[in-house]
Amino acid sequence: MKKLKWGMIGGGEGSQIGPAHRLGALADGRFEFTAGALDHRPDVGREYAQRLGVAEDRAYGDWAEMLAGERGREDRVDLVTVATPNSTHFEITKSFLEAGFNVLCEKPMTMTVEEGEEIVKIAAASGRICAVNYCYSAYPMVRQARAMVRAGEIGKVRLVVTNFSHGHHGDATDADNPRVRWRYDPAMAGVSGQFADCGIHALHMASFIADDEVESLSADFASTIASRKLEDDAMVNFRMSGGTVGRLWTSSVAIGRQHGFDIQVFGETGGLRWESEQPNQLIYTPVGGRTQVIEKGEAGLCEDAQRLSRVAIAHPEGFPLAVANIYCDLADAIAGEARDGLPDAAAGVRSMAAVYTAVASAKDGGAWMDARPPMFQ
Ligand SMILES: NC(=O)c1ccc[n+]([C@@H]2O[C@H](COP(=O)([O-])OP(=O)(O)OC[C@H]3O[C@@H](n4cnc5c(N)ncnc54)[C@H](O)[C@@H]3O)[C@@H](O)[C@H]2O)c1
Repeated sequence: MKKLKWGMIGGGEGSQIGPAHRLGALADGRFEFTAGALDHRPDVGREYAQRLGVAEDRAYGDWAEMLAGERGREDRVDLVTVATPNSTHFEITKSFLEAGFNVLCEKPMTMTVEEGEEIVKIAAASGRICAVNYCYSAYPMVRQARAMVRAGEIGKVRLVVTNFSHGHHGDATDADNPRVRWRYDPAMAGVSGQFADCGIHALHMASFIADDEVESLSADFASTIASRKLEDDAMVNFRMSGGTVGRLWTSSVAIGRQHGFDIQVFGETGGLRWESEQPNQLIYTPVGGRTQVIEKGEAGLCEDAQRLSRVAIAHPEGFPLAVANIYCDLADAIAGEARDGLPDAAAGVRSMAAVYTAVASAKDGGAWMDARPPMFQ
């Protein structure tokens, strides 16, 4: 099979998410690393891209130079990943979609709901793929959970409870550290801190497994470290279109919790539980029956869970391979085989609408509000 050509913007040396994208994109031989504008410092980005094997003429200094260089080529890249800081996502994603490129954008897709709706429309008009990197949804056992819900194995879903709560910004003496401070500074982070950063992963996961969309929510935000202008802890209650009740806790001051991302889905005839720190196990309890551990790699899993597993049963398969699963689905989609689980621009704008609604609700004493973007109301 001919390899697809892949380009990356952001994700330079020392970045947090860059390595996961490179490991993911290149894991299965579906893509080759062809072009990049990897760093906000042009020379540093050019040098690093070449060290990673990108040809000199496709190691660009910035994204505009990459757009100009790639759009004129017959062998232009098939997919562009946007892994820059949040405030740049909209402009870069919009520009590449309009020029006819497929895009994988990091979350959050945009800074506003209006921008998110624009991206949905541009992607539809261009006929190109615009995916958003809700990569936790690509763990095999998360796909298994969704398949079990769809197959009715826990009956109608009554309740979803999810947490994305860690303690890595819990040290008040470290609150002025420049790597931490920007996340709670509205000028850099936007209207929300922890909920926009981690909470939206949990909210997307709730929709993904329950196979339903968030319709309304009520939020309580707190800045437990008083100097912070944005929340470092949030509790969000929500309701889904099908009536499912949702509870979400996200925090960055929960000292002792490490990654701290988990989800429980309770239906009329059973319950499911998954934790990102034990991603190969899905816990299933049928009503009146025994609790079972469903292992990645064992017999009888759904087609997606089998397709997206690579190593033998009981061997860990972690975060970069979940990102690789997003790239597998993208390679299939680019080849014309649309993949149902791939998070799209609609998921991106739904998250932005939830962020703005949660901010408004928290300011209004937790009032319940419609959490859907106008285009989906
Ligand atoms: N999906 C996930 O689980 C996940 C996890 C971590 C981060 N993220 C997202 O990934 C994005 C990047 O986060 P990070 O933690 O890697 O940030 P980071 O600050 O560690 O790295 C950002 C990188 O982008 C480069 N960069 C900045 N501006 C640029 C520009 N205009 N052009 C080219 N390169 C530029 C920087 O030089 C750096 O290499 C954010 O949107 C973040 O929300 C997602």
